Amino acid sequence: MSDGESGGRGGFRTDLGFVLAAAGSAVGLGNIWKFPYITGEYGGGAFVLIYLACIALVGLPLLYAEMIIGRRGGKDVLDSMSALTAHAGTPGKLATWGVGLLAVGSGLFILSFYAVVAGWAVHFVAISVGLAAADASGSEATFTALAGNGGLSAWWHTIFMGLVVFVVAGGVQSGIERACKILMPALMTILLILLAYVGITGGLGASLAFLFRPDFSKVSGEAILEALGHAFFTLSLGMGAMVTYGSYLQSDRHVVRDQLAVAFLDTAIALVAGLVIFAVVFSMGAEPGAGPGLVFITLPDLFARIPGGAFVALAFFVLLVVAAWSSGISLLEVVVALGIDRFGWSRRTAAIGIGVLIWALGLPSAFSGEFLDFMDNLTTRYMLPIGGFLIALSAGWLLGKEDREAGFTALPGGGAILAVGWTFTIRFVTPALVLLVILNGLGLF
Ligand code: PFF
Repeated sequence: MSDGESGGRGGFRTDLGFVLAAAGSAVGLGNIWKFPYITGEYGGGAFVLIYLACIALVGLPLLYAEMIIGRRGGKDVLDSMSALTAHAGTPGKLATWGVGLLAVGSGLFILSFYAVVAGWAVHFVAISVGLAAADASGSEATFTALAGNGGLSAWWHTIFMGLVVFVVAGGVQSGIERACKILMPALMTILLILLAYVGITGGLGASLAFLFRPDFSKVSGEAILEALGHAFFTLSLGMGAMVTYGSYLQSDRHVVRDQLAVAFLDTAIALVAGLVIFAVVFSMGAEPGAGPGLVFITLPDLFARIPGGAFVALAFFVLLVVAAWSSGISLLEVVVALGIDRFGWSRRTAAIGIGVLIWALGLPSAFSGEFLDFMDNLTTRYMLPIGGFLIALSAGWLLGKEDREAGFTALPGGGAILAVGWTFTIRFVTPALVLLVILNGLGLF
């Protein structure tokens, strides 16, 4: 077994380490910031059901596809794809380069704005421990003073990028695996403490009803497409993050089990975060449909009024930073792996060099909310779905049967039926659904 850092390109030391790192990538701002607010906007329970269906039909098949491409290809996204299509003797050049370029572009662009939003969360941690001042006129003013202050946003963005580069430069085992083995249990512990808190202080019943009692009158075509798009973002799909992490796996044996664990953790954490947030919202008689400001404006406002609110605020924003940190790590790692595998850079040079580039790309987002939204839309609505579309088609049609089905073949009993079901889904169902997301992004519906 390779020991990860010395010689070779490294790999995860344990299977649990892989699951925690991949779940760390998946669980991020998407779960704790975005999922609750879009669920609030689209009316709760029915949206949650649609979202779960999207995870099953698009998320799971693509998650397996990405992990198996990385595991069997054994390199960064671009080189894994080209090795596997060469192995199968299929004409994969266009798809390989398409996926590779989109992956690098998405890694750079997403992390550039993601780090700005994560930086805001770091600022709220600083406020919670009294290191930074909140605006006396309330939480809306506090957030506006932060988001509207480019220098201050850029400062926290810089701190967050430093945290991400620090871990990635440390290597797969000593950096990423070690960090995620601490960060993920910490995240789950904080979330459970918060859940216990709302369980005691109230609001949980209303929150449960909101999330799990579907009201289908609220379902619209737009809600379905939003849920589908979010399934991508939340599972880190469409840009090779899971390909890259899969390439650090030592065997095919647990790919199927691991991908189920990652999807389960991601979904469970989003739901529990939603439960906690809406419990606070309902217990204080606030509105669930507050939009993107839910976490940065509505919640701080409520935290200021609930018993033990300062402590709850601190726990919540540490949770947000931890979640964003382990996701940021995977975003940087996609590009760093490519620098190492394709260009032969040292890990440290790649992590610092690419980190500085992303930091610079993030400055316009720190100074302009419109630019941040533009980057968010460009990547979430177009780049990730197009990347996912190409990955689904490549996995379904360009890979050899042996590589494609390796995770299923490794199951006790040979997994033949699962392999047939997956192959059909990834060839036809997933690409068709993803195409819908893309066409919707282009405004064709
Ligand atoms: N999955 C992350 C979230 O839900 O916040 C975002 C993300 C991370 C997207 C890594 C893509 C990626 F490669």
